Amino acid sequence: MFRQARQLSTTASLFKYPSSSPSSLRHYSFKVFRDVTPLRTLRRELLLSKRTIGLVPTMGALHEGHLSLIRQAASENTDVVVSIFVNPTQFGVNEDLSSYPRTWDADVAKLEDLNSELSDTNGSGRITAILAPTAQTMYPTLPPSSEVDGDGSFVTITPLAKKLEGASRPVFFRGVATVCMKLFNIVGADRVYFGQKDVQQTVVIKRMVKDFHIDTDVRIGPTTREDDGLAMSSRNVYLGGRRRAVGLALYKALKAAEGSYESGMLSRADILDAANGITRQVLSEQQSLSETERALFEVDYISLADPDTLDELDVVDPAKGAILSGALKMAPLEKTNSGEDCGLGDGKVPVRLIDNLILKPVN
Ligand code: PAJ
Repeated sequence: MFRQARQLSTTASLFKYPSSSPSSLRHYSFKVFRDVTPLRTLRRELLLSKRTIGLVPTMGALHEGHLSLIRQAASENTDVVVSIFVNPTQFGVNEDLSSYPRTWDADVAKLEDLNSELSDTNGSGRITAILAPTAQTMYPTLPPSSEVDGDGSFVTITPLAKKLEGASRPVFFRGVATVCMKLFNIVGADRVYFGQKDVQQTVVIKRMVKDFHIDTDVRIGPTTREDDGLAMSSRNVYLGGRRRAVGLALYKALKAAEGSYESGMLSRADILDAANGITRQVLSEQQSLSETERALFEVDYISLADPDTLDELDVVDPAKGAILSGALKMAPLEKTNSGEDCGLGDGKVPVRLIDNLILKPVN
């Protein structure tokens, strides 16, 4: 089946980006869709050829974390559709929609390189299409609302969407579930791929697929990290050296808590004390430094939760395990030094860092 896929991809190998794009003269090894109807036509052809489609939804600014999901999708399907859409409804009114990194040319170059790699990999599928819709295509009726009580056709998955990230970002999971429902409806994928990095998102999407009987299989790929453990994220480009080093406290805190669980501790206090001790210590070290040296942050939450309901746990059931997750709000740098690497936006952009570890069931 994969051989057949490769042949078809090769015959149709040179696709053209639609003329609305500044990159219209470039040819790609995948087809770029702005609209729903032509993608549906391709989807029908693939279905009739008994091929399988994996969808990887993204907001672009692609990094190795995204690419690892695409590799996984290519290893499990003949054809991969990658969507690139910065979804306005998942950003709150005061959030970073306008400053969210948009790097189309670099993204396409990465996907081209990945397709060459996939062509050389035995038995692998490849990227067949990029879906890069406009906001008008994704939200055809109303301008999308980012207000909590705004009108629109929305998918809400509660109470999951109100917990953890949802507590400080009340429209976030409504936006995510809504856009994913649309993407699933448009692409009709056999499998959809999400990263462990955004663990609450995976729980919300699995619940949506179950509750709405969506005919797709939700696959979760592991978190891709930098060498020192920092979880890759499109927003890391805003950190700069100083905030990046301090932001690693989140991962270190979660690892310490994981260590407590692995050494046999099951109570919330025992597990989370290890994490909270680290964030407190790093913060007090930073507070003792001068404004040109320090990077301040606030801990939004460190959570120990049930893997299915995300309810906070007092005690971990070792047969079930738990999700250990956290969020740090890195404040803008107060004073910068000349020549300092402050990241995109000169250290002025606040950066929310999230991370998680799965406490695995012990048999
Ligand atoms: P985005 O942040 O672009 O992430 C797209 C996918 O890549 C998500 O499933 C995310 O969990 C995964 N991902 C991000 N960083 C990762 C890492 N370090 N390791 C592994 N996977 C990683 O998540 C979104 O976009 C949006 O909410 C979206 C689902 C596209 C809906 O708009």
